[in-house]
Amino acid sequence: MKQPENNSKTAAFLTHELRSPLTSILCSLQLMKEEAAQGNTQNQAMLLDAALRNAERLNLLIDDVMDDSKIQAGRMKMKATAIDPLEIVRETALSLQPWALRRKIGLTVKAGKQLPLVQTDAKRTLQALTNLISNALKFTPEGGNITISVDRGIRDQSGMVVFSVTDTGPGLSQDEVQSVFRYFVQGKKGEERNDGTGLGLPLARSFIEMLGGMMWAESTPGMGAAFRFTLPQAIGDAESPTPASSSVRANTTSRP
Ligand SMILES: Nc1ncnc2c1ncn2[C@@H]1O[C@H](COP(=O)(O)OP(=O)(O)OP(=O)(O)O)[C@@H](O)[C@H]1O
Ligand SMILES: [Mg+2]
Repeated sequence: MKQPENNSKTAAFLTHELRSPLTSILCSLQLMKEEAAQGNTQNQAMLLDAALRNAERLNLLIDDVMDDSKIQAGRMKMKATAIDPLEIVRETALSLQPWALRRKIGLTVKAGKQLPLVQTDAKRTLQALTNLISNALKFTPEGGNITISVDRGIRDQSGMVVFSVTDTGPGLSQDEVQSVFRYFVQGKKGEERNDGTGLGLPLARSFIEMLGGMMWAESTPGMGAAFRFTLPQAIGDAESPTPASSSVRANTTSRP
């Protein structure tokens, strides 16, 4: 992963990123105190909700910064075991389903036949996949579709399993296909709110590379984006425990 070019610039940027949700929390709490002193209950729920959302944002940001520090210091430990790739995909999709429902975006899971197990760290793979699906949810307009697919790699990816997250959003320019994996690079604003930092993709790519895979983006601007990564098959795994189905829509498909 590419190191941030200038450490003091990075520190200043992060301080700013941490300060804005903290300032919002402080303002909300101050206003709540005033409302409570006047016995005014009307706006309190709204202020509490804003404080909570900013606290969650702060929490996620701190997790990302800590993960990054561990990677840079070479202290990020991976616990790779043989895991069913479809299970990771399903679990991630299910956890993001409420967000997809709220944004009226269809979430579909597709799996190739007889998938082999992957040798990976479940927590970090889930985190990488969550970052990709969250981005797709953030940048795809309402009514769009996201497909998460997992299949056996072919040709130069043989021996690997390929995970893909494709969406019907605005896509990426040729430059963005490369640059979005750099630290703090942010292009277009999300459909919902502009609360990103530009850490999600560099962290996701670092995790996957540490696990022996690769991550990249493909896009025709205006035609959606595809983010893909590979992970190695578990050693000695012949065939998978997954059913021989080619498309799993079931409970991970939402189309309000
Ligand atoms: N599915 C997508 N469609 C279009 N643009 C995308 C997509 N995913 C990422 N991008 C672009 O790549 C940029 C970097 O993504 P990244 O996940 O690193 O940061 P972020 O989502 O802005 O913030 P963070 O992940 O730190 O909350 C985004 O700001 C956006 O411009
Ligand atoms: Mg992101």
